[in-house]
Amino acid sequence: MTIDTERLILRPLVPDDFDALRLIHADAELMWVYGGVFDEQRTREWIDRNRKRYADHGFGLFAITLRETGELIGSGGPVWQETDRGTELEVGYQVRRDQWKRGYATETARGSMKYAFENTGVTHVISLIRPENLASRRVAEKNGLSIDREIRWHDFQTLVYQISREKWLAIHG
Ligand SMILES: CC(C)(COP(=O)(O)OP(=O)(O)OC[C@H]1O[C@@H](n2cnc3c(N)ncnc32)[C@H](O)[C@@H]1OP(=O)(O)O)[C@@H](O)C(=O)NCCC(=O)NCCS
Repeated sequence: MTIDTERLILRPLVPDDFDALRLIHADAELMWVYGGVFDEQRTREWIDRNRKRYADHGFGLFAITLRETGELIGSGGPVWQETDRGTELEVGYQVRRDQWKRGYATETARGSMKYAFENTGVTHVISLIRPENLASRRVAEKNGLSIDREIRWHDFQTLVYQISREKWLAIHG
C-alpha cells in the first residue's frame, strides 16, 4: 500500500532503503530528537521493526519519497504507540536536513492522519514531541493539533499533541 499526497508518495520501507536512511540516521543535528545518531545496526532494526508493523497492522513508518523522482527523503506515517493512556495512534516523521522547511513533514503528517481516520476507528491521533523540538511542534500546530498533556515517555519529557476525529473533519474533511 501507499499513502499518496500532492508531492509525496509514502511507501513501505525495504532493505534496499538502508543507504538512503543512513543519511538521516547518521546526522547528529537531526537525531538529537531520538537521543543521538543511530549506528548501522539500529538502522537495520528500524527497517525491520517497521516491516513487522506493516505485517501486523497494515501500516507503520513508511519511506517518504518525492513523487517526481522517487528519491527517499525521510520516513513517516501512522504507528501504534504505548502511552500513559494505553495504545494510541501516533503520526511520526523525520525528514533529511537538506529537505527541511519545504512543508514535507506537514504534508506527510496530514496524509498519514487522513489515512488513519479513514482506515481505523480511532477517536483521535497524537504526535509525541519533545518540548524543545520547535520545528515538530510547528508541524503539529499547522495541521490543527494542540497540546493535550505532558508525559515522561522513553526517558524524555514529552508533549502529547492531539487532534480529535471531529476537529480533523471540521478542518480537513
Ligand atoms: C521536524 C521535521 C520533521 C520538520 O520537517 P520539515 O519538512 O522541515 O517540516 P515542514 O517544512 O513541514 O514544517 C516545519 C515548520 O517548522 C518551522 N521551523 C523549523 N525550524 C524551526 C525552529 N527551530 N523554530 C521554530 N520553527 C521552526 C518551519 O519554518 C516550518 O514552519 P512554517 O511552514 O510556518 O514556516 C524535521 O525538522 C526533522 O526531521 N527533525 C528531526 C526529526 C524530528 O524531530 N521528528 C519529529 C519527532 S516528534
